[in-house]
Amino acid sequence: MFMCRIFAAALAEGKVSPILKIGLKRLEYGGYDSAGMATINGDHLEIKKGVGKIDEVDKAVNFESLEGNVGIAHNRWATHGYPSVTNAHPIVDCTGNIAVVHNGVIENFLELKEDLIEKGHVFKSRTDTEVVAHLVEEELKEEKDFVNACLKAIKKVEGSYALAIIYSKEPDKIVLVKKESPLYLGIGKDGNFASSDPVAFVDKTNLMIPLEDYELAVITPYYYKIYSINTGNIITRKPTEINITPQMIEKGGFPHYMLKEIFEQPTSLYYAMNIQKPYLEAIAELMYRSKINFLVGAGTSYHSCLAASYMYSKLAGLATIPVVASEFIHQYGNTLDPDTSLLLVSQSGETADVLKVASFARMKASTVMAITNVVSSTITRLSRLYLVQQAGPEIGVAATKTYTSQLLIHLLLALEIGKKREKISEEEFKDYFAKIRSIPKIAESILKNTEQKVKEVAEILKDSSHIFYLGRGINTATAFEGRLKMLEIAYIPSSAFSAGESKHGPIALIEKNTPVIFVAPNDSSRRVILGNIMEIKSRGGKIITLGNSDDKELKEVSDIYIEMPESEDILTPILYVLPLQLLAYYTAVLRGLDPDKPRNLAKSVTVE
Ligand code: M6R
Repeated sequence: MFMCRIFAAALAEGKVSPILKIGLKRLEYGGYDSAGMATINGDHLEIKKGVGKIDEVDKAVNFESLEGNVGIAHNRWATHGYPSVTNAHPIVDCTGNIAVVHNGVIENFLELKEDLIEKGHVFKSRTDTEVVAHLVEEELKEEKDFVNACLKAIKKVEGSYALAIIYSKEPDKIVLVKKESPLYLGIGKDGNFASSDPVAFVDKTNLMIPLEDYELAVITPYYYKIYSINTGNIITRKPTEINITPQMIEKGGFPHYMLKEIFEQPTSLYYAMNIQKPYLEAIAELMYRSKINFLVGAGTSYHSCLAASYMYSKLAGLATIPVVASEFIHQYGNTLDPDTSLLLVSQSGETADVLKVASFARMKASTVMAITNVVSSTITRLSRLYLVQQAGPEIGVAATKTYTSQLLIHLLLALEIGKKREKISEEEFKDYFAKIRSIPKIAESILKNTEQKVKEVAEILKDSSHIFYLGRGINTATAFEGRLKMLEIAYIPSSAFSAGESKHGPIALIEKNTPVIFVAPNDSSRRVILGNIMEIKSRGGKIITLGNSDDKELKEVSDIYIEMPESEDILTPILYVLPLQLLAYYTAVLRGLDPDKPRNLAKSVTVE
């Protein structure tokens, strides 16, 4: 489970449950569909958990009734398995003596589970996390020391994790393990703490130690120790001071959720890359077999459909029809039949226009499938198959990380169908995959390297009366998405066109210094887009170009040039939208607006 949050505390004195509850509340932004807590009371575990927001679960179970001074807690934002009491953390082993909370994804959990079942373990939940509890239980049969058992168990686990594990037979200890998911120790005078985010313990201590990947730590009320998982050696690391306020850290140190979510994209892209393979293959198979394939979404999700139609065409030779959800029934309703497939895209899974299409298509016996970011959303119930983006909760009203993760999932589907249709060879498939694997890192460097320049552009654009966004080919969608971001949070009237269309009308609006943003990667449309730039330039437009860092010609004709790294054309929509998201964000901020709460908009539009 990505984007869940964990919290653990070992106190020298007093009940831990009230402190865990306060910490969980502070971590609620990271997940809110179920919550739970486990404490050690004497020689046994006490556990309370339930479905819903923390206050709702607390009302039902009364967290503070848990006794004991050592405990772990979790809030969950479901991806694998519906939110339910059984799937809520903490998760226990067969004996009920070991409890685990987890943030991350255990990639080899199916193999591990099969092996453990063969050894006689009984699984109760549908979570990937449960294998950890049983693995530790299994190791404890031979290895009597809890910490050593955890060190052995974790070596078998592949994937990402921030784990907190307790064992009722060694009641003072909490074992923490980290790889890829964040995990911090809080070193206090009256106890020690650990959490995905120091906000959970920021009022208890101002000393923290960030754990590194492949490290295991033990905290007790009186001491902490850190071990290398690989060598078992003890690591010495001194605590550092926390110089952040609880208010700041709730947004991960960012002033707004939107900016936080923009910068989360390297991670959300990584998670999209590791999407549930069997469902991906099944959706690819159904699209492959269908006579007609529609891609349907609203707003940003529609833009991902538009970009995707180029991906399916280029990589799979498959024609797909991208359609705005609110228009679908009028435009294509009468054409639906059992040979038609619809891939519906909705981050919330609750957009009324999209749900209406789903119900309508089901009535026509067409195949309804979905990509969504919310596992328990309505769209998952209306779809024959669905893929969960695993981008983590998106709180900012402007969709950012969910857009790029949708694009990546479409790309994976297009590759899968391309293989089936024999449009790409096994070798090309591997080659694309290698490039896809590098996306999170490239995205990270783009965000870092373009931010300053983008701020300068925002300063120039902030008082504009109209901004144009032009792109070609697959990046027509990028222009549309850049425009939507600017419109919805900075309220600057903006237009976007396929650059080839500009001379069929929109160019009439170009006056001296009208800002025109060109999305111009080094792809097959680069030559023609240069022509379009010249057309606008000769009419006085201010040319702002996003292009390849070594494209001297484009640089020369542009007034402002945002340098982008060389990349495969099919990947450019994922990368080129990043500076445009930042641009909308900084322009809104300079205009004194709150990008997280744009006027008239809601995160999910549940009315037609
Ligand atoms: O939840 P959905 O993806 O179905 O939402 C669709 C649109 O409402 C959404 O993309 C909207 O356009 C965003 N505000 C864009 O930033």
